[in-house]
Amino acid sequence: MKNDRLKIAIQKKGRLSEASLAFLNSLGLKFTPNGHSLIQKCENKDIDLILLRDDDIPEYVSRGVTDFAIIGQNVLLEKKMEAEVIRELDFAKCRLAIAIPEDSLIKTFRDLEGERIATTYPNLLKDYLIKNNINSAIIPISGSVEITPELNLADAICDVVQTGNTLKAHNLKPLVTILESKALLITNNVVKKGKQELKELLLK
Ligand code: PRP
Repeated sequence: MKNDRLKIAIQKKGRLSEASLAFLNSLGLKFTPNGHSLIQKCENKDIDLILLRDDDIPEYVSRGVTDFAIIGQNVLLEKKMEAEVIRELDFAKCRLAIAIPEDSLIKTFRDLEGERIATTYPNLLKDYLIKNNINSAIIPISGSVEITPELNLADAICDVVQTGNTLKAHNLKPLVTILESKALLITNNVVKKGKQELKELLLK
């Protein structure tokens, strides 16, 4: 089934979801929830809102499936996919940090040499370690990174920190910030009817 309507992707559930929808609403785009459907129609324009896992969003945009999307800079950089950033947004501010247990023998960044670091951001972590000439074992996982030191899967973690509450709950403390991040509005170079007009609205 082919659907040629313009599409905007946002995160289905998480840090960016509510603020992304509020941003689109503030531009006058109103979407109707459609039961449990992950596609919502815009009430006043020929546009669909697509609700996705945030780490899948770069794939959808770079392949031209969705025309626009709101994504965290951290996720976009980790996925290393083609997308044009057309606007920085003022929400979902967080940082990607390496953190260690409060009582760790690791005291400085250089002490990470030879240690195990668990992360859901293996590409960004790898780039950062190479740039700084540190050789650690990267342990890629999909979530709940903060529990890996207490379960002895890792000696340190590299994860998103916003309030710092999750780190504290697991007796972890930040050692070094590797990236500051915020929400971005992205697009691709696929030409579609009505896309320029929607882009102008999104840039208002
Ligand atoms: C991140 C991260 C932490 C939490 C940190 O998860 O993995 O669990 O946020 O936030 P805090 O500093 O405010 O406690 P996120 O909600 O982004 O989900 P995901 O990384 O599992 O997709």
